[in-house]
This record gives sequence, structure tokens and C-alpha cells, in this order.
Amino acid sequence: MVELCERVDGRHLILSLTSDTMSQKNTGSTPSRRHFLKSAAAGAAVAAVATPAWAHSSEQKGIALTDLANISRNRIATDEDFWHLVKQQFPLAPNFTLMNAANLCPSPYAVQETVFQYTRDIDQDASFQNRAKFSQLGVKSREALGRLLGASSDEIAITRNTSESNNTVINGLDLREGDEVILWDQNHPTNNVAWEVRAERWGYKVIHVSTPPAPETADELVAPFEQAITNRTRVLAFTHVSNISGVQLPAKRLCSIARERGIHAHVDGAQSFGAINIDLHAMGCDSYTGSAHKWFCGPKEAGVLYIRADLVDELWPSIVAPGWEGALASGTASKFDNYGQRDDAAVAAVGKTVEFHEAIGPAAVEARIRALATALKKELRTRLPGARFHTSDVPGRSCGVVIVNPGSDTDDYSDAYERLYTKHGISCNLFRTGAAFPGFRLCPHVYNTMEEMGQVADALAAEV
Ligand SMILES: Cc1ncc(COP(=O)(O)O)c(C=O)c1O
Repeated sequence: MVELCERVDGRHLILSLTSDTMSQKNTGSTPSRRHFLKSAAAGAAVAAVATPAWAHSSEQKGIALTDLANISRNRIATDEDFWHLVKQQFPLAPNFTLMNAANLCPSPYAVQETVFQYTRDIDQDASFQNRAKFSQLGVKSREALGRLLGASSDEIAITRNTSESNNTVINGLDLREGDEVILWDQNHPTNNVAWEVRAERWGYKVIHVSTPPAPETADELVAPFEQAITNRTRVLAFTHVSNISGVQLPAKRLCSIARERGIHAHVDGAQSFGAINIDLHAMGCDSYTGSAHKWFCGPKEAGVLYIRADLVDELWPSIVAPGWEGALASGTASKFDNYGQRDDAAVAAVGKTVEFHEAIGPAAVEARIRALATALKKELRTRLPGARFHTSDVPGRSCGVVIVNPGSDTDDYSDAYERLYTKHGISCNLFRTGAAFPGFRLCPHVYNTMEEMGQVADALAAEV
């Protein structure tokens, strides 16, 4: 195995590579790949030592995204050498295992540095002249998101999070008494309660749909939605991957059913954006939302809102601010993120985050997350034979969100949850008794190793 040893010495960060370790254990790597690993790490070591920590560019902490892209050409989802290198791109504390991607993810150095540097740049010179460049950087970020998500940049707005994006769609549609909105009962409150609050004002009817637990087939998941549709249905709003059960809905099929009937298909992608290799045009949804600070590993308080091109005119904006006339005249989704002053550094860093995903490859990111989640479930089943999962192992029925209950839904695991963090350095989430699916929520991402999946299972088995 390649060991990229990170030594933080005062303000200096040194990445070095042990060639002995490589020759002993890295027999699976090709020479060219080894060369890339070696030269990338060596370059980082040389460049990083002489520069103060605050001035480091992204390429000096972690490796350059171009180097990462070169290395990744040979990667496979289970190639631990490569994924160790990916892990090194994140500023994770030592002896700490982050399994909480459904909630909040770290940004790789490349993204962090972009936020830091642009923030400092603004603070050094907040003139209109200096900040003029952010308009173009924002355009580039939208273009990058369009590329990543299989959409046109004209269909992309950069919002502040999924909550805001969901609410923009809810407030933007023209709904009235007599209309019906179908919701999955596993939707997040921002795609659930938020519809109900508007229904009180506008008088439409909300219908909640349940799906069977631990589904094995797409049919089981599609049927309840189909049955709920009437000739009054105007909207079908669902979550791509549930944050409470981990179940992944067959989004393309549901969108196609909605499209055939002239129903607006809204997809909350908070748990798929950055985790699943998304092609929105192929999915066929009318709107899609996500948070940059979750699986995408982007800047905090940034989000994405996709509105299908021919609906941009139809939807009302939530916020109208200076620049509105131009945004409206452009006929693009920029009419939905015309907020007044933004965190320009965060918006600019969204584009850099897309470059990070492209350096690894969005399909490889998805494959890796699926491989980690599958391995985790296997390790948990071995250590905790009585454990129950709310998600199935069938490919496509879940992705990176794993909910496991080690025993009974009425057991209180609060102490075990705390000990996982304090004793084992594992961060996850616990859905307590009374939740729809009580249990531990464990969400591995590209910064986790396969070894950690076994360690997490060991720790959970020891503490429950
Ligand atoms: C499915 C889903 N939708 C929306 C949200 C809200 O995300 P944010 O807090 O980033 O707006 C979450 C957060 O966990 C979520 O899981």
C-alpha cells in the first residue's frame, strides 16, 4: 500500500511517500501510476515547506487536481492506494472517522483554499472594481454544475442550500384549491412540511405516499405513487435518496410517469448530489435540488437548484433584488438566485468543487461510495447478526446512506452513540426511538477507507 504520510510541523505540512512500503505491498500498481503518485507527493513536499500555511495554494496541501486526474485514469473503485490519496486531499483530523456525509462533509484543500483566498481577496479590497470578477466566476460555477449534472448552465441557480431550493420551487409554482400534490412520506421537512405550510395559504391538497420497508424492486417503490395520482395531481415531489431510510427511489421512472401526465416532478437531491453520477436531462425531472456542503464536498451554505429550461419562465422567484430585470431578460435560472449580496467566495468555489469531482470522475465517486456502503453492511452483518437494515443491498435501491438498528426499535442507543465519538473517534448520526426508522445512520464517502468500514463495525458491535 502507498503510504502518504502527513506530518504537520508547526505551519508546515509535509507529504512524503515511503518507497519501501510501495515495493513491498503495492504490487498491483502499474509503474506509470506509481510514478504519478511519487512525483505528485514529492512535488507537494518540496513546494509546501517554504511557504506560510495561510498562503498555501490548494496544490500544496493535498496534490494538484490535474495530478489527481492523471492518477485517477487508472483507478478502480476498490483500489485502496488511489483512495488513500483521495483521503489525503481532505483536512480530516487524525484518528477520526467521519461517517456523516448525509449531514455535512469537509471540503478538499483545493476547495477550502479557493474559499479562503477569495474571502481574503474581498477583505483586502472590497471595491466594485476588484469584485467585478466574481460575476464571471459565478457564471463559471453554473457552467461547471451544468456539466456535472447533465444540464444546461441556463437551468442552474446557485442557492444557499437544499432547503432554500426546495422552498423556491414550492413558492414558485402556481397552485390553487383543487390541485393535488403527492409527497413521499420519507421526504425531508423542507420538501414535506414546507408544502403543507403553502397548502394552508393556497388551498391545494397534500397527499402522502408510503413505500414498503427494505424494498428490493423498483416496482414496489413506483406502485404507491402511481396509485395516488388522480386527474387533479399537479406535482409529484420526492427525495432521490432518503436521509431517514437510505432508500433510493427510481427517479427516472417516476419522472417519466409524471411527464406523461403533465405533472411537475420535483426531486430533492440532497443525498444524491455529489454522490450519484447524475444526468438531469436523462432523469427527466422538472426541478432538482442539492446542498454543496453535503456529498458534493463544496463550500458551506451553497446549494443548487435546477429548473428545466421550459419552466424557467413559468415559476415565480422567491427573492427579487437589484439585477432582477437583467436576470429576467436572460430567460435563465439566474432569476432564482438573484439575492442581493452573496458570499462570492463560496459561489466561486462551487466551480472548483466540480473540478475535484471531475479529477476523480463522478462515476468513480459513485462506485466508491456504493462499494464502501456495501462493505460496511457486510461487516455489520458479520459483527451484529441480529442487525436490521432499512435499505436493501439491491444495486440502485440505496447509495451511501446506511441505517442500521443493532437490536430493537425501542432500544436506547444514546450512550453508545456518544462513546462511538468519544472513545472511537467515529462521527455518525443516531435516529432515536420514535423516529420513523430508529438506528445509526452511517454514511461513508470518498475520504473513508475500506479498513474503516471494518473498524466502524467493530466499534459499533463493542458499544451496543
Ligand atoms: C433529503 C434532504 N433534503 C433537504 C435537506 C436540507 O439540507 P440543508 O440543510 O443543506 O438545506 C436535507 C438535510 O439533511 C436532506 O437530507
